[in-house]
Formats: sequence, structure tokens, C-alpha cells
Amino acid sequence: QHTCAWGKVKAYKYQEFWTVKPFLEATILAQQSFKAEPSDVFLCSAPKTGTTWLKSLAFAIVTREKFDESTTPLLTKFAHECVPLLEKAQVVERENIRKNFNLPLISTHLRYASLPESVFSSNCKIVYIYRNIKDVIVSHYHFLREGLKLSMEDAPFEGAFEEFCQGISGYGPYWDHVLGYWKASLERPEKILLLKYEDLKSEPKSNVKRLADFIGCPFSVDEEKAGVVDNIIRLCSFENMSNLDVNKTGKLNGSMFENRFYYRKAKVGDWKNYFTKEMEERIDKLTDEKFNGTSLLLK
Ligand code: A3P
Repeated sequence: QHTCAWGKVKAYKYQEFWTVKPFLEATILAQQSFKAEPSDVFLCSAPKTGTTWLKSLAFAIVTREKFDESTTPLLTKFAHECVPLLEKAQVVERENIRKNFNLPLISTHLRYASLPESVFSSNCKIVYIYRNIKDVIVSHYHFLREGLKLSMEDAPFEGAFEEFCQGISGYGPYWDHVLGYWKASLERPEKILLLKYEDLKSEPKSNVKRLADFIGCPFSVDEEKAGVVDNIIRLCSFENMSNLDVNKTGKLNGSMFENRFYYRKAKVGDWKNYFTKEMEERIDKLTDEKFNGTSLLLK
């Protein structure tokens, strides 16, 4: 057990990762009872790596025959309502969402080794998004700070940075989270797709097509000609999503996080506004040590 740097949150270590009580309880429940189906697609991520974006994109891809850009629920519902989080949603709610949208999508922040056994036995697909560690640290800092209603003076960045280095972050250590999925993707490439936030940003079209192919909903030539891929990218863009009423003023029932906290800046390299030279060197060194011998780039 650990009390976070600003004294407001109690974190618990469970199966080698850090989490908070409500998620811990729901995790244990999900591990005991969740029955994955072969047609499920799990959208997996460590927090603040692009989960919300991935959910919107996958949802828009999977439901594109049912809804277009003017009728999609993404315009009026928060992405986290459209695709439920395994370790939060009640089983009933999850079943309802499946029934309502007839969707195979479920998201989770659990690390690979902690996924419910049925995810492996069902052999369902997994999409994993990851992001530059320094931008994740900054994003994580602001998210938690805003959720706790603390100013930057009351919640100094240094404390959050120090904890992140010690592995104490939502579902952290972040390095181990990424390594788990990365290793699994080498063993089961046909079942696990890795996407990088920065790649989605710089080359959205090819990556959205990769995502659609992998999920089993490839775009036809006619769809491409008709601009369906571009429309989905535009619909799910930060500029569009962050300006929707639901994302500006909404809040999930019982959550301490307003929807707008999930849409902050969406910039690559925002860490440069927060890191000292020493912080940069320290995190680079830690990352080099952890990722030695892999092809992964988190810097
Ligand atoms: P920043 O805090 O750097 O702005 P998650 O969804 O995993 O919680 O991650 C949140 C991060 O993704 C935030 O990063 C947020 O701004 C960014 N984000 C949210 N929606 C996005 C979108 N549609 N496109 C790109 N980035 C997005």
C-alpha cells in the first residue's frame, strides 16, 4: 500500500501492478467471472496513452454501417460509455452494452499477465496502444491532479515524477505494462496488434486501416474512395471530440474525473514543458535499462 505524493489517494499493489481500491475489487471480480468470447476485441492500454482515442476509433470502425458521422453515438456519449472498461463496468452493464450496440469491444488497463483467463482461452484479439513515457508522465500528472481538484502549486510535478520513476502510476510500472504486451505480441502476432500513439498522430490513415483490418472490419475500395476512412479520422480527432458538449461538460456517474479531463492537449512532446535536464536523463536511463534488447522506443 502507498499513499500518493499529495496525500490524497491510497494505491494498492496487486499482482505486480498499482491500482486503487474500486478498480482492485472490480479486477478481482472480472478475473473470477468474466467470460471472454472468441469474437471479443480487447482494447488494452496503460492509462493516459490514448485509450479514449482508440476507443472512439474502434467504435466508429465497428459501427460504421449502422451509424454515419451525423448519427454516431460518439457525438452524444462519452467514448468510455460506448466501450466499457472491464475492471469497472458491472457485468450487467457490460452485457447491456454488448446488446445495445451488438459490439465486440471491451477495454481494460490490466497488464497482460493479469487479464482474465478466458481472454487467453477464448483466443480473442487484443489491440494495445502505448505512448512516449515522458508524455504519459505529464498526462498522468494532470489527470490525477485535476481529478483531485488540486492546483499545480498544491500538487508539484516533481512528486508525481518521482512516483512514476518508482513504478507507482495507474497500473504501473509503465515499462512492465508495455513489455508484457510487447512480448505477447511477438508470440501471438495474429492476435495482438500494437499501436503507438505517436504513429497514430503522424500517420492516422495507415494506422486506422491497420486497426480496421486487424479487428476484422477492413475498409472496401469503395469506402476508401467515398472518404469513409478520412471521415472516421476527422470524427475521432482531438479537435472534434474535445469540442463536443458531452466531452466538455459531461461526467460519468460516480467518477471523480470529468470527461474533459480525458481531453487535455493531445500534443506529442508536451513533456519538454515540464522536465528538467536531470529528469530527462533519469527517465531515459531507466527506460534504456528496462528496454535493453527490445525494439521498443518509449523516449
Ligand atoms: P494529454 O494529457 O497529453 O493531452 P487516455 O485516453 O489513455 O486517458 O489518454 C489521454 C490522453 O490522450 C490525453 O493526453 C488526451 O489529451 C489525449 N487524447 C484524448 N483524445 C484524443 C484524440 N481524439 N486524439 C489524440 N489524443 C487524444
